[in-house]
Amino acid sequence: MCQLFMKNISKSFDDVSVLKSVSFSVKAGEVHALLGVNGAGKSTLMKILAGDYQKDDGTIEISGKEVSLESPLDAKRHGIGVVVQEVDTALFPTLTVAENLAIDTYTSTGFKMSRVSWQSIKKQAKEILNDMNIELEVNKPVAQCSLSEKQMILIARAVAGNVRYLILDEPTAPLSEKETNTLFEIIKKLRDKGVGIIYISHRMPEIKKISDRFTVMRDGKLIITEKTETASTEQIIQQMLGKSLQQTERKRKVTSTNTLFEVKDITIPDTGKSISLTVQEGEIVGVAGLVGAGKSETARALFGAGEAKGSWFINGKRKKITSPYHALKQGLCLVPEERRKEGILTEHSVAHNLSLPSLQSFTRFGWLQLKKEAEYANRKIDELGVVTSSSTRLLKYLSGGNQQKVSIGKWISPDRNVYLFDEPTKGIDVKAKKEIFQLIQSLAEQGKGILYFTSELEELLHIADRILVMYDGEFTASFTGAEATHEKIMQVATGGMLSETNG
Ligand SMILES: Nc1ncnc2c1ncn2[C@@H]1O[C@H](COP(=O)(O)OP(=O)(O)OP(=O)(O)O)[C@@H](O)[C@H]1O
Ligand SMILES: [Mg+2]
Repeated sequence: MCQLFMKNISKSFDDVSVLKSVSFSVKAGEVHALLGVNGAGKSTLMKILAGDYQKDDGTIEISGKEVSLESPLDAKRHGIGVVVQEVDTALFPTLTVAENLAIDTYTSTGFKMSRVSWQSIKKQAKEILNDMNIELEVNKPVAQCSLSEKQMILIARAVAGNVRYLILDEPTAPLSEKETNTLFEIIKKLRDKGVGIIYISHRMPEIKKISDRFTVMRDGKLIITEKTETASTEQIIQQMLGKSLQQTERKRKVTSTNTLFEVKDITIPDTGKSISLTVQEGEIVGVAGLVGAGKSETARALFGAGEAKGSWFINGKRKKITSPYHALKQGLCLVPEERRKEGILTEHSVAHNLSLPSLQSFTRFGWLQLKKEAEYANRKIDELGVVTSSSTRLLKYLSGGNQQKVSIGKWISPDRNVYLFDEPTKGIDVKAKKEIFQLIQSLAEQGKGILYFTSELEELLHIADRILVMYDGEFTASFTGAEATHEKIMQVATGGMLSETNG
């Protein structure tokens, strides 16, 4: 039978056992979801399959024959395609979309092709993208592409290489609803053609929608493999956590009438639009909008990046904010969306990443006090539930979701007043998501002001006191937490019914 079978796979990093005799299989023509909380071992298992890591123990068989996957090239030759979780590490920013799409062809022929025809590279790239219904200019350098565009390039590249087995590690995290639907169409087509697909995601509704079977991993062990239709979402979550997730509904009331943060007529350089808004002390203001609505651009401008013009007020006093440096000095901080690029230093330790924004508190006469830094870091690690063997571990060795937690945690310090969160829960598991919500709520309870930018409307309905809807770079509606519904926000966010809901 056509299937890929990983048998009793084990793997340790520096004596820490990360995979414990895990068996996992994917059949031709099925979508198999691989699930588990941050750090469970999903990406590690897949990196072994992609030839990035070597297993310590176990065997891998394709259609009954044992194969050796000692390099990414080996994996490619066996028809294994992969879309990795760390989008930026897999693309060449200075090359164009077309060139990035062609890279695989060159590497899999072992660089034997000596003459490069740019014309044919472009033509092929156009065909691949067209086939997949992806609109993208092939001459654009990847550095200028948005995160979701980069993700689509990776997907197109993997699919173009005639794959028999395709690994998608959190492919939809940066995608819009429309792009996600496009991806699902692509997945279905591939499945019908007999490709076996391994699908990793923290979004439970997607799992129910797209997968035929699922496997749950916990602490590097295999917990269960089952047909998706026979299990409920609650049951799956319970297997992931080892216990059920308790729902704590906490409705806060904003009592302060003090305006903590206000911006007037700020022109956002990237969108050319101008916006104004206020945040009360202790208030969580959600900014809802589809991917591409201009949320990240707005968040960055409010943080003083990109030479935005306009007026900033903190506690009623006008402040000059012309750079992120000024913003930080005034107690403003931003947790950016593209955290790998802007938010974290992967070659540095967890402790160093966590202490960096507050470095002044750990230096004496210019010397870094390592013990103080470690104590601070350990407190944060506890607070955020970061899974790491120690605070001295390099950040790049943490799982994707745990890197996210560090990138959020580093900004949470008592001397900040206003927090801008840009898509903070991307790639974070159900339990960690709840922890982050609690963290944000407790910041609000301490009287801080919060702006929460997201395309995940459900999250806003859960956490925001007030919701501003952004469409095409402008705020087109505002709802109180109580009056907001998914439908109302969606209508405005998609540009429909502007006149009725404006206000
Ligand atoms: N190169 C490495 N060196 C050391 N430890 C590593 C390395 N890669 C992963 N780990 C560790 O292995 C464990 C599993 O990580 P992995 O990335 O597989 O988790 P995951 O299930 O993909 O999580 P997430 O949902 O957060 O992406 C983590 O504890 C991580 O710190
Ligand atoms: Mg992962």
